Amino acid sequence: MDLLTCRRLDEIIEKYKEEKSALVSILHAVQGQEDYLSEEIIDYLSEKLSIPASQIFGVASYYKAFSTQPQGKHTIKVCDGTSCHVRGGEKLLTRLGRELQIAAEGTSEDLQFSLKKVRCQGCCQVGPVIQIDDVVHGPLTQEKALKIIKEHGD
Ligand code: FES
Repeated sequence: MDLLTCRRLDEIIEKYKEEKSALVSILHAVQGQEDYLSEEIIDYLSEKLSIPASQIFGVASYYKAFSTQPQGKHTIKVCDGTSCHVRGGEKLLTRLGRELQIAAEGTSEDLQFSLKKVRCQGCCQVGPVIQIDDVVHGPLTQEKALKIIKEHGD
């Protein structure tokens, strides 16, 4: 890990180390800065915080907000809330995963897309919906969703 990254991590540790839930706060801050919690970062935090790496990895894996894998350039969130589900949300998720060759909650090999299943996005009237980065799209058919996603590819 480069010196600059170590310095950034040290600053985060210093800022949050006295908090009651220091580890969670530190992981949030690190993920916001470094994109994902790599094995290298977890090992560094483990040494600095004197917490076993396995324990840090356990926390990082438990919360959906954290990722221990690199994230794609674009994040596709497929709503599987009740309303979207009955309108085909889950089938849409399966189809997108198949087309993009992404396992559930995974990232494409070319690091273009990460796929996530999410709960109600608060716009059920236009379901089923997906959110790509910050923009919600709906109502969608599987073909429409694929077309929108293709427009985001390089
Ligand atoms: S269930 Fe999908 S937006 Fe509400």
